Amino acid sequence: MKILFINACVRTESRTLELAQYLLSGLDGEITKIDLEKEDILPLKEKTLEKREQLVRAQKFDDTFFHYAREFAEADEIVMAAPYWDLSFPSLLKIYLEAVTVSGVTFQYDAGVPKGMCHAKRLFYVTTAGGPIFADFGYSYVKTLAENFYGIGETICFKAENLDVEGADVAALIGKTKKEMELFCGL
Ligand SMILES: Cc1cc2nc3c(=O)[nH]c(=O)nc-3n(C[C@H](O)[C@H](O)[C@H](O)COP(=O)(O)O)c2cc1C
Repeated sequence: MKILFINACVRTESRTLELAQYLLSGLDGEITKIDLEKEDILPLKEKTLEKREQLVRAQKFDDTFFHYAREFAEADEIVMAAPYWDLSFPSLLKIYLEAVTVSGVTFQYDAGVPKGMCHAKRLFYVTTAGGPIFADFGYSYVKTLAENFYGIGETICFKAENLDVEGADVAALIGKTKKEMELFCGL
């Protein structure tokens, strides 16, 4: 079982990362971690987009350009950790998703309709927020991509909210989410 852990947390003391690590401790498999802060994934610009389109047209999917997409497609299970930033997630994660959403590697068009090419059956999304998550453009975006592009049938979100609210009992809020993980994983 190959678990791909995509870490979009940037703070050393990240509560989201703490929760994701707890979840990973309850999953069975060999974990490959991608620390997005340490990677050098660039957003697509004119030249890189052109290069990508040429490679796709030539079906050169073994090119290093598609390294992240291939790794994502081959994973048996995916865990994403991303704090709730500006109603969604850090842009590091968007750039990563842009790199993995490649027609011919993680999905392919069938009469204009995307069909998933990813092995993973489940994707876990772990997040924490300073206040309430009243509009989750982060998880709902990842879930829609997973189900409609990648062909990953099940997405599961674990979250802890209101961590930065004055007087919040952060340990209790984090503990509650850990309990939910324990119930889920049978920890
Ligand atoms: C750039 C930035 C944007 C944020 N945007 C929101 C937001 O829209 N809503 C919210 O409730 N909290 C927001 N927060 C607070 C974080 O969601 C909260 O502190 C979270 O627990 C941080 O996760 P971490 O401990 O893993 O770094 C933001 C924090 C930062 C640094």
